[in-house]
Amino acid sequence: LITSDDRKIVGFTGQIGYALVPMVARGIMLGPDQPVILHMLDIPPAAEALNGVKMELVDAAFPLLKGVVATTDVVEACTGVNVAVMVGGFPRKEGMERKDVMSKNVSIYKAQASALEKHAAPNCKVVVVANPANTNALILKEYAPSIPEKNITCLTRLDHNRALGQISERLKLQVSDVKNVIIWGNHSSTQYPDVNHATVKTSSGEKPVRQLVADDTWLNSEFITTVQQRGAAIIKARKFSSALSAASSACDHIRNWVLGTPEGTWVSMGVYSDGSYNVPKGLIYSFPVTCKNGEWSIVQGLSIDEFSRKKLDLTAQELSEEKTLAYSCLS
Ligand code: NAI
Repeated sequence: LITSDDRKIVGFTGQIGYALVPMVARGIMLGPDQPVILHMLDIPPAAEALNGVKMELVDAAFPLLKGVVATTDVVEACTGVNVAVMVGGFPRKEGMERKDVMSKNVSIYKAQASALEKHAAPNCKVVVVANPANTNALILKEYAPSIPEKNITCLTRLDHNRALGQISERLKLQVSDVKNVIIWGNHSSTQYPDVNHATVKTSSGEKPVRQLVADDTWLNSEFITTVQQRGAAIIKARKFSSALSAASSACDHIRNWVLGTPEGTWVSMGVYSDGSYNVPKGLIYSFPVTCKNGEWSIVQGLSIDEFSRKKLDLTAQELSEEKTLAYSCLS
């Protein structure tokens, strides 16, 4: 399957899934020359809606779309997939404790880990989007030991893109002229959006974001909290959580992973920590990465000042606690 022309994507039919499938079918995720077969999985109560999405995909007559599998059978969904975008999850409901939500979701990821391990294509790339994204990805990794750890990631690209967006709005510049922000840590409100190495393309060359913004107070406070709290702000405004931006960022994540990052540019990805930047090993933690030949590597050697160090440690601490909680839910 890996040598076939068709890459198969497994996804779901909630808000993000619905926004994601047309993007994938239009080539936004894997490029305009890559045919795709979509595998969509949901739970039995959503089977009819899932079939409706399949009908719409047929009706849209996407030239790159070579097939659609809509199923409630996790084995059928995972069979032969080259890319797995994991957006299925259990939402937090009124009266539920954090532990209850964690328990529901890590159990889903434990079950899906074995289906992916047994049935996906050997080099399947996985991105976990559903929350708690880092910890779900960690559980998936630990319960699918034969999938190489470098193949299991979680989505923090939305946070990365949000940081680029905030800087471009502040400087009234095109977002495409800003690069190399970093999201460190958890996809949660403890994440650390870092602009210390970010630059902007100007008519007189690349300039540091800090120099152009020239307002450290804003960069060290409001900018950080705006990015950290952006998800909540979207829910407040839209009454639903981010969907089109999450779907678009998931496409960016996979496209850069498969097709590479541009020279001199890095992106943020939640990956299995190897201890870089003194982040504890054994966590799925968001780092700056570059991608080449279908593999990511953590950008090394960036200076970390005292302010940043504290923030890197704080979000690592939260991830360690989530890991402990996840294991207590599973035991
Ligand atoms: P949604 O509730 O609209 O969709 C979730 C879908 O998952 C539903 O179709 C549901 O039936 C399905 N599902 C539930 N249990 C399942 C199972 N065991 N197997 C297969 N499918 C299952 O939620 P939405 O808005 O699409 O968000 C999806 C997830 O992504 C949520 O956990 C959300 O918190 C997270 N998220 C993550 C972001 C990130 O940047 N990492 C950004 C935005 C959302």
